[in-house]
Amino acid sequence: MHKPTFETYKLINGPMHQSLRHDSAHKHVAGSAEYIDDIPEPAGLLHGAIGMADRAHAEILSLDLSEVKAYPGVVSVLTAKDVPGVNDVSSGGRHDEPLLATDKVEFHGQPVFAVIAETRDAARRAARLARIEYRDLPFWTDVDAALENDAPLVTPGMVLKRGEPEAELDKAEHRLKGSMRIGGQEHFYLESHIALAIPGEDDEVALWSSTQHPSEIQHIVGHVLDIPSHAITVNVRRMGGGFGGKETQGNQFAALAALAAKKLNRAIKFRPDRDEDMALTGKRHDFRMDFDVAFNGDGRIHALTANFAARCGYSADLSGPVTDRALFHADSSYFYPHVKLTSQPLKTHTVSNTAFRGFGGPQGMLGGERIIEEIAYQLGKDPLEIRKANFYGDVGSGRNVTPYHQTVEDNIIARVVEELETSCDYQARRRAIIEFNRTSPVIKKGIALTPVKFGISFTMTAFNQAGALVHVYQDGSIHLNHGGTEMGQGLYTKVAQVIAECFQVDVERVKITATTTGKVPNTSATAASSGTDLNGMAAYDAARQIKERLVAFAVEHFQVPPDEVEFLPNRVRVGSKEIPFPDLVRQAYFARVQLSAAGFYKTPKIHWDRAAGRGTPFYYFAYGAACSEVSIDTLTGEYLMDRTDILHDVGKSLNPAIDIGQIEGGFVQGMGWLTTEELWWDAKGRLRTHAPSTYKIPLASDRPKIFNTRLAEWSENAEPTIGRSKAVGEPPLMLAISVLEALSMAVASVADYRHCPHLDAPATPERVLMAVERLKGM
Ligand code: MTE
Ligand code: MOS
Repeated sequence: MHKPTFETYKLINGPMHQSLRHDSAHKHVAGSAEYIDDIPEPAGLLHGAIGMADRAHAEILSLDLSEVKAYPGVVSVLTAKDVPGVNDVSSGGRHDEPLLATDKVEFHGQPVFAVIAETRDAARRAARLARIEYRDLPFWTDVDAALENDAPLVTPGMVLKRGEPEAELDKAEHRLKGSMRIGGQEHFYLESHIALAIPGEDDEVALWSSTQHPSEIQHIVGHVLDIPSHAITVNVRRMGGGFGGKETQGNQFAALAALAAKKLNRAIKFRPDRDEDMALTGKRHDFRMDFDVAFNGDGRIHALTANFAARCGYSADLSGPVTDRALFHADSSYFYPHVKLTSQPLKTHTVSNTAFRGFGGPQGMLGGERIIEEIAYQLGKDPLEIRKANFYGDVGSGRNVTPYHQTVEDNIIARVVEELETSCDYQARRRAIIEFNRTSPVIKKGIALTPVKFGISFTMTAFNQAGALVHVYQDGSIHLNHGGTEMGQGLYTKVAQVIAECFQVDVERVKITATTTGKVPNTSATAASSGTDLNGMAAYDAARQIKERLVAFAVEHFQVPPDEVEFLPNRVRVGSKEIPFPDLVRQAYFARVQLSAAGFYKTPKIHWDRAAGRGTPFYYFAYGAACSEVSIDTLTGEYLMDRTDILHDVGKSLNPAIDIGQIEGGFVQGMGWLTTEELWWDAKGRLRTHAPSTYKIPLASDRPKIFNTRLAEWSENAEPTIGRSKAVGEPPLMLAISVLEALSMAVASVADYRHCPHLDAPATPERVLMAVERLKGM
């Protein structure tokens, strides 16, 4: 057992703003961090597997499960008829995602039944033995086919409009129309989805789920089993990565595990393998953007209209807010005097797409950056010059209002970009690259410097709330709990630092505990990068209450004025005495002072009127910039990342080590999205890239050979966030747009930079080669 020992340090270990390793880093490396599949299995545990449809869109005429049931080791087979409550696991209560299909299936892989067996192997083998008769129905799997088929929208689209875009499109010197395809992405968290359910007495059930959203799992299980939320406890110590893929997608596994657990009164585990996980769960939305832009000779945009059509899959899931966020970021860092942006969340017969780091923002921002790039090639200028001409201005410039009518008040993009441009020697390197390309026949180089501006807050205002629970025990050790979940991003470590800072104790005194719906209720998903902003503040609120009670106790007990009680490192000064923290705590306990508190926080200022397309959806913005240099082989399309320099704004960092990890990781994940990660469905609507053999995420060896990441250390959040920090989880992913544009420049060199290569994303080696061939002929 760990017993904190008291020592007087000059300063505490692990206050806010100190670089501290992730609390589990050593356990991740040693293999001792406990994931759900590592929890000792309860006696009598059974395993589940999902029977998946092998049609993209069909009526189910008959379902013969006799061979499944007869398979050795099979204990039970579940169909929709076994659901006592509502046969639905849709997020947001749209009732458009059956837990198990009944009369029709709408994507290849859709769950039709579940097998429960003595072993995982038996369950998976039996799941393949169903005889299902189908009547095929017409289907489409991508955006183009959806538009040709007049596909319905899974949820209404959004319109953002300011000024008179249509009328103004003719009133500038230049006008350009274009289109871009932006690919999706598989989350590829290292730990695939998993759920363990243990039945309790009466209607009780306890769950362990790899989820970013324990409260939603609780809600869905209640709804499927027709039991109240109070009967369900959902626990999650950590995920082996989520990246948005565990915001809603864990619902099906948890609901099936709970359903079987209550039906059979046995503990049940569902752990799909990688191929099943990839077929059964949603991905990043891919988009087609069509735009029409008017601009002047200096590259300044005058008017813009753009439509973002997205492949949403068969149900709504989070497609509404995801496509909304794409529009919120289609301005990237630029002021559009006249603008109209529209979204089309299209239904397709594919697995329902979902949240993925950036939540549609990256796709919108990439669209905005492509428009800048097109203008630059049209005018024969460096894209960076066009960027600078279009940046949002300062307050009072008349150029700082977004397409959603929020005024950008904290703009630092020009400073971030200028500092990076200087520190990475952009101009000289770009000249050298152009010179290199002139004489190098096969290898061509490209460089690009792109900005990031990302809005922080859930656009659904109600989600911007959080709770925490803090206990101080008699020995002065502290138990910390809050509604946020840990997926590797370091949230737990940062919140522990907040508590250490508040009580002025070493962070080792703070015990980080698993997230559970029983301690903090009605939580939001840990998402939208706001985990620390929300839970850090809620935890601070709880600690502050206990601290105030300790002060009040000391004032009364030692008869000193309140300003004579001061929390020093690991001790409290009361008048002229210094009392070790645990001693003060123990004395307070004997005086019957409550040493436990629940904290709460809600984000101020924000509001959003979606129908009007107006409001202040974001509390603040996080900024950054990246410059990437690449080399391509014009005979094969292969490429290398030569160098990336990043300058990123996290406000006043709560933990620079963790923040830099998030920035580097986010960048590399974004690089994968825009380069090698390609999702491909065949003519039958089957996802054929469903394992690492066919789906290529970046390797350590794919990272830029030179990789410099710096924080904008001068930045502080203008809003009173926890420690004046800023969210860091998602924004850095978009720094990778610099890679795509650098590849584009290398390609453009084969035709003397006269044409924009129109590289779609992902720019796989094949696409790069095809673009080179296309340009050589021009
Ligand atoms: N970092 C790691 N290591 N693993 C993850 O799954 N998810 C990202 C980001 N960073 C993720 C990650 C996503 S999609 C979000 S929204 C944020 O972390 C969520 O955590 P935060 O709000 O605490 O930053
Ligand atoms: Mo992150 S996509 O908001 O989970």
